[in-house]
Amino acid sequence: MSDAEQRRAGSINGPKGLYIETYGCQMNLYDSERMADVLRPLGYAQAATPEEADLVILNTCHIREKATEKVYSEIGRLRLIKEARRAEGRDLSIAVAGCVAQAEGEEIARRAPAVDLVVGPQSLHKLPELIARAARAKGVALTAEFTAEEKFDALPERRADGVSAFLSVQEGCDKFCTFCVVPYTRGAEYSRPAEAVLAEARALAAQGVREITLIGQNVNAYHGGMDLAELIGEVAKIETVARIRYTTSHPLEMSDALIAAHGEEPKLMPQLHLPVQSGSTRILKAMNRKHTADDYLRIIEKLRAARPDIAMSTDIIVGFPGERDAEFEETMALVREVGFASAFSFKYSRRPGTPAASMQGQVGEDAKAERLARLQGVLNAQQRMFNEAQIGRVLPVLVAGRGRRPGQAHGRSPYLQAVHFDCGVGDPGRLTGEIVSVRIEAASQNSLAARAPNEAAA
Ligand code: 5AD
Ligand code: SF4
Repeated sequence: MSDAEQRRAGSINGPKGLYIETYGCQMNLYDSERMADVLRPLGYAQAATPEEADLVILNTCHIREKATEKVYSEIGRLRLIKEARRAEGRDLSIAVAGCVAQAEGEEIARRAPAVDLVVGPQSLHKLPELIARAARAKGVALTAEFTAEEKFDALPERRADGVSAFLSVQEGCDKFCTFCVVPYTRGAEYSRPAEAVLAEARALAAQGVREITLIGQNVNAYHGGMDLAELIGEVAKIETVARIRYTTSHPLEMSDALIAAHGEEPKLMPQLHLPVQSGSTRILKAMNRKHTADDYLRIIEKLRAARPDIAMSTDIIVGFPGERDAEFEETMALVREVGFASAFSFKYSRRPGTPAASMQGQVGEDAKAERLARLQGVLNAQQRMFNEAQIGRVLPVLVAGRGRRPGQAHGRSPYLQAVHFDCGVGDPGRLTGEIVSVRIEAASQNSLAARAPNEAAA
């Protein structure tokens, strides 16, 4: 970029406010952090609200219709701030990033003139160039190329924020489940080379990160010169990294080596998110999941043999085309058999361009709502039971920082449960980054309450 372009993009004018709103999955959370990293050298620093920002980025999700609709209503809200700003002789730039940008970039440009730039998830390293282009020309600067490889090579050094960090190792998906837009918005599967991943892991550790979650749309399909089990082993060699997790996985890629790692690698936490989507083999086939309900149950058996206390979580879709009461009951039976520690469940949402959108046997809204309510009743009860089962146990908690109340700290259990505990005298912030053994005293739907470590030890 020339000096003049840099000036327009903000680097020479001093600090500018950046506000990023993130929707959707961990990949987007990671990308949002990376966009902040890309923009930092240009003088952008985090603003507390959109009102205080010079640039607002909406990092969007396309997975279900509802998520997509949110984008347009949010753009409408930002347009009002932008207009008020302009009346004062200043400007607010609005950027749309993420999967809606990828899928509907041109439509956004047409429908929402308040938007200054549109950037797909694989092109976020091009933000400085786009900002300069948008400032130069009136109208929207748009890019949505599939350049995952280039993206990672072009990104600056990672800046850590907190004791836990996501680390993207794999992007995109070649599985083409018939309901899913991801293969179209995130492109073909790409694994980052292991050396690049490990360099980023070491940089995070050097900045105080104790827990690394390896992320990818199909993270267990990782093949960047080694497989995921080996990569976990390499990350585990970084001394100050105490905890490792990975998400999201596909049942087909749950190799024996990866399952074994759950029993052998003490830093690998006893928790796994493994989407099943349906408990009906017929529906799984229509979804193009390429495994049966029974295959899934066998994987769980093996995982539990390797690590008996492993906390399982999953994703489930109800009302996929062709799902009758009988198939839904098969999902309920699978859920009862597995006993999930937590789960995400959704009504099937028809996504334009995906094979399932034009399948026969679309399920009515009422049936979907009723099934979802029944399913969530069982899943919520299972989550509560799992949390309550921890009462009386002493669990090692990785402390993330001060809790909401004075004297309180909060963190996560090995099973990824949120835990808060009173720490007695002194600033609870002193424990940040430490792994503290606490006695669990109470459990609710979404968190655990524990007793101060010194009292727990007594
Ligand atoms: N409708 C409903 N849920 C969906 N998911 C993906 N696509 C759809 C869709 N069209 C869910 C799946 C996936 C999770 C991230 O979102 O359960 O695992
Ligand atoms: Fe979508 Fe299926 Fe790929 Fe997951 S595995 S991202 S659900 S296509």
